[in-house]
Amino acid sequence: MKIGKIELKHGLFLAPMAGVSDAAFRRVCKKYGAEMVCTEMISSRALCYNDRKTKELAVIADDERPCALQIFGNDPEIMAKAAVLALEFAPDAIDINMGCPAPKIAGNGDGSALMKKPGLAYEIVKRVKEALGGKNVPLTVKIRSGWDEKSKNAPEIASLCEKAGADAITIHGRTKDQMYSPPADLDIIREVKKSVSVPVIANGNIYDAKSALEMFGYTNCDGIMIGRAALGNPYVFKEIACALDGKDYKKPPRHVVVADIKEHITALVELKGEFVGVREARKHVAWYLKGMPGAPVFRNQVNAATSLKEIKTIIDKAFN
Ligand SMILES: Cc1cc2nc3c(=O)[nH]c(=O)nc-3n(C[C@H](O)[C@H](O)[C@H](O)COP(=O)(O)O)c2cc1C
Repeated sequence: MKIGKIELKHGLFLAPMAGVSDAAFRRVCKKYGAEMVCTEMISSRALCYNDRKTKELAVIADDERPCALQIFGNDPEIMAKAAVLALEFAPDAIDINMGCPAPKIAGNGDGSALMKKPGLAYEIVKRVKEALGGKNVPLTVKIRSGWDEKSKNAPEIASLCEKAGADAITIHGRTKDQMYSPPADLDIIREVKKSVSVPVIANGNIYDAKSALEMFGYTNCDGIMIGRAALGNPYVFKEIACALDGKDYKKPPRHVVVADIKEHITALVELKGEFVGVREARKHVAWYLKGMPGAPVFRNQVNAATSLKEIKTIIDKAFN
């Protein structure tokens, strides 16, 4: 599939995940076959205020490209200004968040709340596209199936976004009310695919090769986006790529997993400093440990650890 000039062999995307998909995690997913990644969602207003912490979220390293930069907001002018400011970080695409259900986002009229206002959603995409005019940076939009069960309007929103200039649509097949738990609605993803001619990236509950193949087969989507299944398992991209290539997939041996975890959390500490990095590493290590014998004990030890060195020693013991 292609988004602008970006060509992807299989169309495998890592989902943007606030508090999780930072550069350190994006890099490990990339290593195992995520073909395109995305920053965590970034406030358009905060970007316009030149907020230092917000700008840190926008930094993209060369070895993780192509990487989209995702912005959220509800004011077309501020979104357009933020998209232009974001170009300082040379994103490979700009993505607009129309899916976040969190009360502090949707309650403000941002994220998934835009699904309730098709006119405003159209205006935002149109203004951002105009502002990016001539910059050769593709514009993508990430939507949900709708706000609630009674208003599943993803095909309409997707079509409006295309009309306003979007170069691809990602559809998370759940309503805002459904948050993250019920199975994704593959029928509405299929409808979205039929309603636009730009590439469609399907998202929701893809956790292995089987669910990935089912998503491609049933919806005719051009790409798939994986979020939670990659937590502690960046290998899921390789598993899916192997299935798409008709090749056998073998889980990585333990020593490779240990090396990957250490590389991941070292990068996290380099990115955020030891204090914050160690605290953020705890949840990632817990995800890597999931299902392992003795995982609860090692998880408690990691949660009490205060240095990178201590966590690495615990990982060695856990995977011994
Ligand atoms: C912890 C967490 C943070 C998320 N943050 C974002 C975000 O910043 N932007 C966004 O568009 N979606 C965000 N999402 C939604 C995911 O991108 C994805 O749409 C959702 O998790 C469904 O995919 P999955 O079933 O593969 O996890 C987040 C999801 C999780 C679990």
